[in-house]
Amino acid sequence: MAKKTLDDLGDLKGKKVLVRVDFNVPLDKKTGAVKNDRRIRAALPTIKHLLDAGASVIAMSHLGRPEKATPEERANLTMDKVAAKFSELLGTPVKKAASEVVGAGVTAAVAAMKPGDVVLLENLRFDPREQKNDAEFAAAIASLADAYVNDAFGTCHNDKDASMVAVPAALKAAGKPRAVGLLVAKELEIIEGLMSAPKAPVLGIMGGAKVSDKIAFINVLLTKVDQLLIGGKMTYTFLKARGVDVGATRVGDEEVAAAGPLLKHVGTKIVLPVDYVVAKSDDLLQTQVCEGPIPAGFEGVDIGPKTIEAYKAAVKDAATVIWNGPLGWFEQAAFARGTQYIAEAMSASSGVTVVGGGETAEAAEQFGYADKMTHVSTGGGAFLAYVEGKKFQSLAQIDDRA
Ligand code: 3PG
Ligand code: MG
Repeated sequence: MAKKTLDDLGDLKGKKVLVRVDFNVPLDKKTGAVKNDRRIRAALPTIKHLLDAGASVIAMSHLGRPEKATPEERANLTMDKVAAKFSELLGTPVKKAASEVVGAGVTAAVAAMKPGDVVLLENLRFDPREQKNDAEFAAAIASLADAYVNDAFGTCHNDKDASMVAVPAALKAAGKPRAVGLLVAKELEIIEGLMSAPKAPVLGIMGGAKVSDKIAFINVLLTKVDQLLIGGKMTYTFLKARGVDVGATRVGDEEVAAAGPLLKHVGTKIVLPVDYVVAKSDDLLQTQVCEGPIPAGFEGVDIGPKTIEAYKAAVKDAATVIWNGPLGWFEQAAFARGTQYIAEAMSASSGVTVVGGGETAEAAEQFGYADKMTHVSTGGGAFLAYVEGKKFQSLAQIDDRA
């Protein structure tokens, strides 16, 4: 059944709307500055829509994993720099509500809000109750607002985050409406369309490091695609599982075990690179292109030129392309060719092109192709889980349309 969206929230004039956004953005390790603001930009249409309707907005998000951070790292995980970036992109002042996540300071800041005002709560994960679906914590947040909007697609798969599940539950208990925002609605529509009726031929492209993390995703993809092209670090997992020497490339035994059941598809649906760029582990400037076994002391770092040409041709012929995971060590300019050329080929395609979030989205953006794709998801884990067909507790909380 269709979920409530912003227009189902009724008259919002003078109302306070709590919006769960996913502003868990990559930060510069040294300065703590926002390195990529894509997730913030993606939430702006919802925020603007609510402000235009006469509401005030209480935005909230987690940032990083403060529970695992050192004290210095934790200091960089306050929402101050995110609030500044949010304010700059929105073109409206955004204040952080208080230095605590909930409490008297927040209540006072929210009480003082007028229509058109925006406040951002402190990093939700600074309060350990956030990741425990704590009812008391949730009730305190829920009491701030008249309505709840989930526009945090990237976090929708987290079933224990209070702001995603217990908070909307508390609003329901208080008789207040809950809706999805414009970003979540768009992500769901695109991914559902992609999975239910993709236009053939359908091409999947998978890269990244771990097969084991993505096994459920790969299995679902295999039921939808005509071909699944492999690149990135998982190439060497497949090679090792096939008994090919991978030289100094580090591939864990559990990865080899995860790839095992997929080997029967190699040569039919699953396509492995025919060549790859390898670099000497103790001197990355020494590179060569190889086919077959990787020489001792060398590790695989990118797909090779023949593979790039073959993969580009496959992208050109496809009506639908779904891409998840970089094809090489793209953070190093010398090993970014595979990722860059595939992103470029997708951007030039007249078919439907969808990029799964996380690192893949960052790569598409870094090379300037993100805006030329049909859709670049803001979800990393959430994108994979939704494609896999997982049911999200967060979305179950959202009211159905009447
Ligand atoms: C993400 O980037 O995956 C989401 O923001 C969720 O963050 P988490 O992986 O730390 O739960
Ligand atoms: Mg995650």
